[in-house]
Amino acid sequence: MLLQRAVPPGKPVTPQDAYGDLRLEDLAPADRPHVVANFVASADGKATVAGRSGGLSGAADRAAFHLLRSQADAILAGTGTLRTENYGRLVRDPQLEERRRGQGRCAQPLAVVISRSGEIPWEVPLLADPASRAVIFAPADTELPATGAQLIRAPLGDSVDLGAMLTILREQHGVRSLLCEGGPALLGALMAAGWLDELFLTLAPTLAGGAELPVSTGPALPDPLELDRVSALSADGTLLLRYRRR
Ligand SMILES: NC(=O)c1ccc[n+]([C@@H]2O[C@H](COP(=O)([O-])OP(=O)(O)OC[C@H]3O[C@@H](n4cnc5c(N)ncnc54)[C@H](OP(=O)(O)O)[C@@H]3O)[C@@H](O)[C@H]2O)c1
Repeated sequence: MLLQRAVPPGKPVTPQDAYGDLRLEDLAPADRPHVVANFVASADGKATVAGRSGGLSGAADRAAFHLLRSQADAILAGTGTLRTENYGRLVRDPQLEERRRGQGRCAQPLAVVISRSGEIPWEVPLLADPASRAVIFAPADTELPATGAQLIRAPLGDSVDLGAMLTILREQHGVRSLLCEGGPALLGALMAAGWLDELFLTLAPTLAGGAELPVSTGPALPDPLELDRVSALSADGTLLLRYRRR
């Protein structure tokens, strides 16, 4: 057998060259958004160092992270991630905001929050920022506080139906590309329900150890999901991988 070199040395590209023009929305089917997730993992498959993702992320990951954010119609994060990572404004670079406007998008992606318990960390800066618009999928009796952000109610049924959430995002909010930024529980749920189209995975040259959270948790999959590799880039020992569902 022969092995292919996954990352042949070639002409270096900037993060903008590699990830600046993804056009994720063009990949959306008619009835839901194209769903991608972006994660950073240690070489031993963990999503955190000392309970947070920051210890795994370096300059290349941060560049890809912000470029991805700037190209999504909406961004989904679990309540655990919102809380632990103390989420703030989604697109911070005024140039990226300007590019979004030029593409006919809102300057800020729509934030999407989904909670079964209704215990939403309203105090995080993202949900208090007047520039934010957030769709809140939560039980019908969840009160939306006046935080300063534009909060839009989307009641959940008895179960957390991610498929129904995707339909509502597309039909009622025009979302064609949805970026899930975690955490592991929400990624596991999206995978198990069959809604994950692509995974952007940064593999950091770090070993995090057994006490940390893995990249996905939650229900078993009936069968492993097969992926095709779309691209592989490297920077200082970090691998930036893009996979698509086969
Ligand atoms: N390495 C990375 O790239 C990365 C990315 C993101 C996060 N993280 C880390 O991951 C940790 C947080 O992740 P987590 O797994 O604990 O929580 P999470 O996935 O961020 O959030 C889980 C919560 O989301 C809500 N949820 C709604 N629908 C759900 C569904 N169908 N399945 C599962 N959850 C659903 C529930 O909220 P309610 O409890 O309100 O019902 C649930 O408790 C943090 O330590 C963070 O630093 C790492």
